[in-house]
Amino acid sequence: MRILITGAAGFLGSHLCDRFLAEGHEVIGMDNFLTGTRGNIEHLEGNPAFRFIEHDVTREIEIDGPLDGVLHFASPASPIDYLELPIQTLKVGSLGTHKTLGVAKAKRARYLLASTSEVYGDPQVHPQPESYWGHVNPIGPRGVYDEAKRFAEAMTMAYHRYHGVDTRIVRIFNTYGPRMRPEDGRVVSNFIVQALKGEPLTAYGSGQQTRSFCFVADEVDGIYRLFMSDYTNPVNIGNPDEFTILELARRVIELTGSQSSIDFRPLPEDDPKVRRPDISLARKVLGWEPTINLDEGLRRTIPYFRQVLSETGVIAAGR
Ligand SMILES: NC(=O)c1ccc[n+]([C@@H]2O[C@H](COP(=O)([O-])OP(=O)(O)OC[C@H]3O[C@@H](n4cnc5c(N)ncnc54)[C@H](O)[C@@H]3O)[C@@H](O)[C@H]2O)c1
Repeated sequence: MRILITGAAGFLGSHLCDRFLAEGHEVIGMDNFLTGTRGNIEHLEGNPAFRFIEHDVTREIEIDGPLDGVLHFASPASPIDYLELPIQTLKVGSLGTHKTLGVAKAKRARYLLASTSEVYGDPQVHPQPESYWGHVNPIGPRGVYDEAKRFAEAMTMAYHRYHGVDTRIVRIFNTYGPRMRPEDGRVVSNFIVQALKGEPLTAYGSGQQTRSFCFVADEVDGIYRLFMSDYTNPVNIGNPDEFTILELARRVIELTGSQSSIDFRPLPEDDPKVRRPDISLARKVLGWEPTINLDEGLRRTIPYFRQVLSETGVIAAGR
Protein backbone atom coordinates (compact mmCIF):
# COMPACT_ATOMS: atom_id res chain seq x y z
CA MET A 1 0.00 0.00 0.00
CA ARG A 2 1.04 3.62 -0.53
CA ILE A 3 0.19 5.63 2.58
CA LEU A 4 0.18 9.34 3.49
CA ILE A 5 0.81 10.06 7.18
CA THR A 6 0.34 13.66 8.37
CA GLY A 7 2.11 14.68 11.57
CA ALA A 8 4.90 12.28 10.54
CA ALA A 9 7.61 14.21 12.41
CA GLY A 10 5.65 14.00 15.66
CA PHE A 11 5.72 11.41 18.41
CA LEU A 12 2.94 9.07 17.20
CA GLY A 13 3.28 9.90 13.50
CA SER A 14 6.94 8.89 13.42
CA HIS A 15 6.24 5.57 15.15
CA LEU A 16 3.40 4.94 12.69
CA CYS A 17 5.77 5.58 9.76
CA ASP A 18 8.11 2.97 11.26
CA ARG A 19 5.29 0.45 11.64
CA PHE A 20 3.90 0.88 8.12
CA LEU A 21 7.42 0.65 6.64
CA ALA A 22 8.14 -2.46 8.72
CA GLU A 23 4.98 -4.05 7.31
CA GLY A 24 6.32 -3.47 3.78
CA HIS A 25 4.26 -0.41 2.80
CA GLU A 26 5.40 2.75 1.06
CA VAL A 27 5.05 5.87 3.24
CA ILE A 28 4.82 9.57 2.44
CA GLY A 29 5.31 11.58 5.63
CA MET A 30 3.97 15.15 5.80
CA ASP A 31 4.62 17.72 8.53
CA ASN A 32 5.29 21.44 9.00
CA PHE A 33 7.38 20.95 12.21
CA LEU A 34 4.93 22.98 14.30
CA THR A 35 5.49 20.67 17.29
CA GLY A 36 7.46 17.83 15.65
CA THR A 37 11.17 17.51 14.95
CA ARG A 38 13.36 16.31 12.08
CA GLY A 39 15.16 14.12 14.60
CA ASN A 40 12.08 11.85 14.85
CA ILE A 41 12.36 10.84 11.20
CA GLU A 42 16.05 11.27 10.41
CA HIS A 43 16.57 7.50 10.74
CA LEU A 44 14.27 7.12 7.69
CA GLU A 45 16.43 9.29 5.42
CA GLY A 46 17.70 7.17 2.54
CA ASN A 47 14.93 4.58 2.97
CA PRO A 48 13.60 4.17 -0.59
CA ALA A 49 10.10 3.34 0.72
CA PHE A 50 9.90 6.66 2.60
CA ARG A 51 9.47 10.18 1.30
CA PHE A 52 8.99 13.35 3.34
CA ILE A 53 7.09 16.47 2.29
CA GLU A 54 7.28 19.61 4.43
CA HIS A 55 3.80 21.09 4.21
CA ASP A 56 1.10 22.72 6.31
CA VAL A 57 -1.95 20.44 5.95
CA THR A 58 -4.40 23.29 6.46
CA ARG A 59 -3.40 24.35 2.92
CA GLU A 60 -4.19 22.53 -0.32
CA ILE A 61 -2.39 19.16 -0.47
CA GLU A 62 -1.01 17.77 -3.71
CA ILE A 63 0.34 14.23 -3.94
CA ASP A 64 1.61 12.69 -7.17
CA GLY A 65 0.49 9.17 -7.99
CA PRO A 66 -1.94 6.83 -6.31
CA LEU A 67 -2.63 6.57 -2.57
CA ASP A 68 -4.24 3.67 -0.70
CA GLY A 69 -4.40 5.28 2.72
CA VAL A 70 -4.35 8.63 4.51
CA LEU A 71 -3.72 8.79 8.27
CA HIS A 72 -4.34 12.27 9.68
CA PHE A 73 -2.16 12.66 12.79
CA ALA A 74 -1.12 16.31 12.40
CA SER A 75 -2.22 18.36 15.42
CA PRO A 76 -0.64 19.83 18.52
CA ALA A 77 -1.48 17.20 21.13
CA SER A 78 -0.08 18.17 24.50
CA PRO A 79 -1.98 20.72 26.62
CA ILE A 80 1.07 23.04 26.69
CA ASP A 81 1.14 23.05 22.89
CA TYR A 82 -2.54 23.53 22.18
CA LEU A 83 -2.94 26.21 24.84
CA GLU A 84 -0.04 28.11 23.20
CA LEU A 85 -1.27 27.38 19.65
CA PRO A 86 -5.07 27.62 19.93
CA ILE A 87 -5.77 28.88 16.40
CA GLN A 88 -3.37 26.43 14.72
CA THR A 89 -4.99 23.62 16.74
CA LEU A 90 -8.48 24.60 15.63
CA LYS A 91 -7.30 24.97 12.04
CA VAL A 92 -5.50 21.64 11.78
CA GLY A 93 -8.49 19.83 13.31
CA SER A 94 -10.97 21.54 10.99
CA LEU A 95 -9.27 22.74 7.77
CA GLY A 96 -6.56 20.05 8.02
CA THR A 97 -9.18 17.32 8.39
CA HIS A 98 -11.15 18.76 5.47
CA LYS A 99 -8.07 18.91 3.23
CA THR A 100 -6.86 15.41 4.11
CA LEU A 101 -10.36 13.95 3.62
CA GLY A 102 -10.37 15.66 0.23
CA VAL A 103 -7.15 13.84 -0.68
CA ALA A 104 -8.62 10.50 0.45
CA LYS A 105 -11.78 11.14 -1.60
CA ALA A 106 -9.85 12.15 -4.74
CA LYS A 107 -7.48 9.16 -4.50
CA ARG A 108 -10.17 6.69 -3.33
CA ALA A 109 -7.93 5.99 -0.35
CA ARG A 110 -8.92 4.70 3.08
CA TYR A 111 -8.84 7.46 5.72
CA LEU A 112 -8.00 7.21 9.42
CA LEU A 113 -8.52 10.15 11.77
CA ALA A 114 -6.46 10.46 14.97
CA SER A 115 -9.11 11.53 17.46
CA THR A 116 -8.69 11.60 21.20
CA SER A 117 -10.14 10.70 24.58
CA GLU A 118 -10.50 14.49 24.99
CA VAL A 119 -13.74 14.23 22.97
CA TYR A 120 -15.17 12.84 26.24
CA GLY A 121 -14.09 16.02 28.08
CA ASP A 122 -14.35 15.79 31.88
CA PRO A 123 -16.36 12.57 31.72
CA GLN A 124 -19.43 11.80 33.80
CA VAL A 125 -19.32 8.16 32.73
CA HIS A 126 -16.39 6.05 33.81
CA PRO A 127 -14.70 4.22 32.12
CA GLN A 128 -15.62 5.80 28.79
CA PRO A 129 -17.21 3.61 26.09
CA GLU A 130 -17.40 4.88 22.49
CA SER A 131 -21.17 5.36 22.91
CA TYR A 132 -20.59 8.13 25.52
CA TRP A 133 -21.11 11.57 23.94
CA GLY A 134 -18.85 13.44 26.34
CA HIS A 135 -18.90 16.42 28.67
CA VAL A 136 -16.92 19.20 27.04
CA ASN A 137 -16.78 22.93 27.79
CA PRO A 138 -16.65 24.50 24.31
CA ILE A 139 -15.44 27.90 25.55
CA GLY A 140 -12.89 26.73 28.15
CA PRO A 141 -9.18 26.90 27.30
CA ARG A 142 -9.08 23.19 26.37
CA GLY A 143 -12.08 23.62 24.05
CA VAL A 144 -9.75 24.49 21.16
CA TYR A 145 -8.44 20.94 21.09
CA ASP A 146 -11.53 19.02 22.23
CA GLU A 147 -13.92 20.79 19.88
CA ALA A 148 -11.50 20.66 16.93
CA LYS A 149 -11.36 16.88 17.36
CA ARG A 150 -15.15 16.61 17.77
CA PHE A 151 -15.54 18.64 14.57
CA ALA A 152 -12.95 16.41 12.87
CA GLU A 153 -14.97 13.31 13.82
CA ALA A 154 -18.17 14.92 12.47
CA MET A 155 -16.41 15.86 9.22
CA THR A 156 -14.98 12.35 8.85
CA MET A 157 -18.42 10.77 9.32
CA ALA A 158 -19.92 13.25 6.84
CA TYR A 159 -17.35 12.25 4.19
CA HIS A 160 -18.09 8.64 5.01
CA ARG A 161 -21.86 9.04 4.74
CA TYR A 162 -22.14 11.54 1.90
CA HIS A 163 -19.05 10.82 -0.21
CA GLY A 164 -18.66 7.13 0.59
CA VAL A 165 -15.05 7.57 1.81
CA ASP A 166 -13.83 4.46 3.64
CA THR A 167 -13.05 5.98 7.05
CA ARG A 168 -11.78 4.95 10.47
CA ILE A 169 -11.67 6.97 13.70
CA VAL A 170 -9.32 6.09 16.55
CA ARG A 171 -9.88 7.72 19.94
CA ILE A 172 -6.40 7.70 21.38
CA PHE A 173 -5.94 7.77 25.14
CA ASN A 174 -2.75 9.07 26.85
CA THR A 175 0.20 7.46 25.13
CA TYR A 176 3.85 7.69 26.12
CA GLY A 177 7.22 6.40 25.00
CA PRO A 178 10.46 7.38 23.27
CA ARG A 179 10.34 10.49 21.01
CA MET A 180 8.05 12.48 23.27
CA ARG A 181 9.59 15.93 23.70
CA PRO A 182 11.15 16.43 27.13
CA GLU A 183 9.46 19.85 27.39
CA ASP A 184 6.05 18.89 25.99
CA GLY A 185 4.37 19.23 29.36
CA ARG A 186 2.67 15.82 29.34
CA VAL A 187 2.63 14.17 32.71
CA VAL A 188 4.84 11.16 31.89
CA SER A 189 7.56 13.21 30.16
CA ASN A 190 7.36 15.90 32.87
CA PHE A 191 7.82 13.40 35.67
CA ILE A 192 10.66 11.52 33.98
CA VAL A 193 12.55 14.73 33.17
CA GLN A 194 12.04 16.14 36.67
CA ALA A 195 13.13 12.86 38.26
CA LEU A 196 16.27 12.62 36.08
CA LYS A 197 17.16 16.22 36.90
CA GLY A 198 16.60 15.53 40.59
CA GLU A 199 13.92 18.25 40.76
CA PRO A 200 10.59 17.88 42.61
CA LEU A 201 7.85 16.20 40.50
CA THR A 202 4.92 18.59 39.95
CA ALA A 203 1.53 17.02 40.71
CA TYR A 204 -1.63 19.09 40.23
CA GLY A 205 -4.47 19.14 42.74
CA SER A 206 -4.20 16.36 45.32
CA GLY A 207 -2.62 14.01 42.77
CA GLN A 208 -5.65 11.73 43.24
CA GLN A 209 -7.00 12.33 39.70
CA THR A 210 -6.49 9.19 37.64
CA ARG A 211 -5.09 8.53 34.18
CA SER A 212 -4.35 5.44 32.14
CA PHE A 213 -1.17 5.33 30.09
CA CYS A 214 -0.58 3.29 26.97
CA PHE A 215 2.92 2.46 25.76
CA VAL A 216 3.47 3.66 22.19
CA ALA A 217 4.12 0.19 20.67
CA ASP A 218 0.73 -1.01 21.94
CA GLU A 219 -1.02 2.15 20.72
CA VAL A 220 0.50 1.90 17.24
CA ASP A 221 -0.45 -1.77 17.04
CA GLY A 222 -4.08 -0.92 17.85
CA ILE A 223 -4.11 1.87 15.24
CA TYR A 224 -2.56 -0.40 12.61
CA ARG A 225 -5.15 -3.10 13.28
CA LEU A 226 -7.99 -0.57 13.10
CA PHE A 227 -6.69 0.78 9.79
CA MET A 228 -6.57 -2.76 8.38
CA SER A 229 -10.02 -3.68 9.76
CA ASP A 230 -13.36 -2.85 8.16
CA TYR A 231 -14.80 -1.14 11.24
CA THR A 232 -15.93 2.43 10.50
CA ASN A 233 -17.23 3.76 13.84
CA PRO A 234 -14.85 5.27 16.45
CA VAL A 235 -12.74 2.85 18.50
CA ASN A 236 -10.98 3.61 21.80
CA ILE A 237 -7.34 2.55 21.83
CA GLY A 238 -5.65 2.96 25.18
CA ASN A 239 -4.56 1.10 28.27
CA PRO A 240 -7.35 0.60 30.81
CA ASP A 241 -4.93 0.15 33.77
CA GLU A 242 -5.71 3.16 35.91
CA PHE A 243 -3.24 4.97 38.16
CA THR A 244 -3.48 8.10 40.27
CA ILE A 245 -1.01 10.81 39.30
CA LEU A 246 0.62 10.26 42.69
CA GLU A 247 1.13 6.54 41.96
CA LEU A 248 2.69 7.41 38.61
CA ALA A 249 5.04 9.90 40.30
CA ARG A 250 6.16 7.24 42.78
CA ARG A 251 6.78 4.64 40.01
CA VAL A 252 8.87 7.15 38.05
CA ILE A 253 10.91 8.12 41.12
CA GLU A 254 11.61 4.45 41.87
CA LEU A 255 12.44 3.39 38.28
CA THR A 256 14.75 6.35 37.65
CA GLY A 257 16.44 5.83 41.03
CA SER A 258 15.80 9.51 41.79
CA GLN A 259 15.78 11.29 45.17
CA SER A 260 13.12 13.77 43.95
CA SER A 261 10.19 14.81 46.14
CA ILE A 262 6.62 15.55 44.92
CA ASP A 263 5.39 19.14 44.73
CA PHE A 264 1.63 19.93 44.67
CA ARG A 265 0.16 22.79 42.58
CA PRO A 266 -3.46 23.95 41.96
CA LEU A 267 -5.47 21.95 39.41
CA PRO A 268 -5.70 23.63 35.96
CA GLU A 269 -9.12 24.67 34.60
CA ASP A 270 -11.29 21.82 33.18
CA ASP A 271 -8.65 19.20 34.01
CA PRO A 272 -10.45 15.83 33.82
CA LYS A 273 -10.58 14.04 37.21
CA VAL A 274 -10.74 10.56 35.74
CA ARG A 275 -9.92 9.10 32.36
CA ARG A 276 -9.89 5.43 31.43
CA PRO A 277 -10.85 3.75 28.17
CA ASP A 278 -13.43 1.04 27.93
CA ILE A 279 -11.68 -1.15 25.34
CA SER A 280 -14.34 -3.87 25.00
CA LEU A 281 -14.96 -2.79 21.41
CA ALA A 282 -11.26 -2.90 20.43
CA ARG A 283 -11.03 -6.38 22.00
CA LYS A 284 -14.09 -7.52 20.07
CA VAL A 285 -13.55 -6.00 16.62
CA LEU A 286 -9.74 -5.85 16.48
CA GLY A 287 -8.70 -8.63 18.87
CA TRP A 288 -6.49 -5.94 20.42
CA GLU A 289 -5.47 -5.21 23.97
CA PRO A 290 -2.32 -3.70 25.47
CA THR A 291 0.53 -6.05 26.30
CA ILE A 292 3.02 -3.71 27.99
CA ASN A 293 2.40 -2.69 31.61
CA LEU A 294 3.35 0.65 33.14
CA ASP A 295 6.63 -0.48 34.72
CA GLU A 296 7.79 -2.14 31.50
CA GLY A 297 6.77 0.88 29.41
CA LEU A 298 8.58 3.26 31.78
CA ARG A 299 11.69 1.04 31.65
CA ARG A 300 11.65 1.37 27.83
CA THR A 301 11.05 5.14 27.96
CA ILE A 302 13.43 6.36 30.68
CA PRO A 303 16.67 5.51 28.76
CA TYR A 304 15.46 7.65 25.82
CA PHE A 305 15.02 10.70 28.07
CA ARG A 306 18.32 10.00 29.84
CA GLN A 307 20.06 10.04 26.46
CA VAL A 308 18.31 13.20 25.18
CA LEU A 309 18.96 15.08 28.43
CA SER A 310 22.61 14.07 28.58
CA GLU A 311 23.18 14.90 24.88
CA THR A 312 21.76 18.38 25.45
CA GLY A 313 23.85 18.81 28.61
CA VAL A 314 20.79 19.09 30.87
CA ILE A 315 22.03 16.22 33.03
CA ALA A 316 25.51 14.79 33.42
CA ALA A 317 26.21 11.81 31.12
CA GLY A 318 25.67 8.47 32.85
CA ARG A 319 23.29 9.88 35.46
N1 LIG B 1 0.10 11.31 22.29
C1 LIG B 1 -1.08 11.12 22.82
O1 LIG B 1 -1.19 10.67 23.97
C2 LIG B 1 -2.33 11.42 22.02
C3 LIG B 1 -3.57 11.24 22.66
C4 LIG B 1 -4.71 11.50 21.94
C5 LIG B 1 -4.66 11.90 20.62
N2 LIG B 1 -3.45 12.07 20.03
C6 LIG B 1 -3.45 12.54 18.64
O2 LIG B 1 -2.43 11.91 17.87
C7 LIG B 1 -1.88 12.84 16.95
C8 LIG B 1 -0.37 12.93 17.13
O3 LIG B 1 -0.07 13.33 18.45
P1 LIG B 1 1.44 13.34 18.99
O4 LIG B 1 1.39 12.98 20.41
O5 LIG B 1 2.29 12.57 18.07
O6 LIG B 1 1.75 14.90 18.89
P2 LIG B 1 3.03 15.64 18.27
O7 LIG B 1 2.88 17.09 18.62
O8 LIG B 1 4.26 14.93 18.68
O9 LIG B 1 2.83 15.42 16.71
C9 LIG B 1 1.95 16.19 15.94
C10 LIG B 1 2.65 16.52 14.64
O10 LIG B 1 1.75 17.27 13.80
C11 LIG B 1 2.49 18.28 13.16
N3 LIG B 1 1.56 19.35 12.75
C12 LIG B 1 0.79 20.13 13.53
N4 LIG B 1 0.09 20.98 12.78
C13 LIG B 1 0.40 20.73 11.48
C14 LIG B 1 0.00 21.28 10.24
N5 LIG B 1 -0.89 22.28 10.17
N6 LIG B 1 0.54 20.77 9.09
C15 LIG B 1 1.43 19.76 9.14
N7 LIG B 1 1.86 19.19 10.29
C16 LIG B 1 1.35 19.69 11.46
C17 LIG B 1 3.50 18.73 14.20
O11 LIG B 1 4.60 19.43 13.67
C18 LIG B 1 3.89 17.39 14.82
O12 LIG B 1 4.99 16.82 14.16
C19 LIG B 1 -2.59 14.18 17.17
O13 LIG B 1 -3.61 14.31 16.21
C20 LIG B 1 -3.17 14.03 18.55
O14 LIG B 1 -4.33 14.79 18.70
C21 LIG B 1 -2.28 11.85 20.70
